[in-house]
Amino acid sequence: MKTLIVYYSYGGKTKRAAEEIAQKEGADLCEAVELKRLPGIGAFFIGCPQAAGGKARPIHPLSKEMEAYEKIIIMGPIWAGNPAPAVNSIIDALPAGKKVEFRITSGGGQSKNHERTINRATAKGCEVEGYVDMKA
Ligand SMILES: Cc1cc2nc3c(=O)[nH]c(=O)nc-3n(C[C@H](O)[C@H](O)[C@H](O)COP(=O)(O)O)c2cc1C
Repeated sequence: MKTLIVYYSYGGKTKRAAEEIAQKEGADLCEAVELKRLPGIGAFFIGCPQAAGGKARPIHPLSKEMEAYEKIIIMGPIWAGNPAPAVNSIIDALPAGKKVEFRITSGGGQSKNHERTINRATAKGCEVEGYVDMKA
């Protein structure tokens, strides 16, 4: 199955994890880049409330066409217990009919609101095959 890993990484840990998985699983890789990167303090005081509220932060157009893949693995860090807001922008860009898996990196905590994240992808017409929290 042709698989694309689309990841957002603020500090580089998710990027490294995504690169390892891509190599191991023979998947293609695509980085989602925010239009406006938040400075460190902004990630906590602006990004965390946005993550907790399920808000999206705009990203640049992706360098790979998700339409060309059967399965999309979405990776990103958890912020305040939820996927970082740029991850929501990746979900919002999903074409219908894709198999989707979430692999969310953390400092050790577990994601909250899995259902909200999964529902966001199913609302796009995608089938969510899994949601994994992984310590980076
Ligand atoms: C703004 C911010 C909020 C975070 N919130 C959490 C959290 O709620 N729980 C947790 O376990 N880790 C939290 N972390 C740690 C990151 O999720 C973790 O280090 C992640 O692997 C970083 O990935 P990255 O380097 O690709 O950005 C937070 C990190 C940042 C920068």
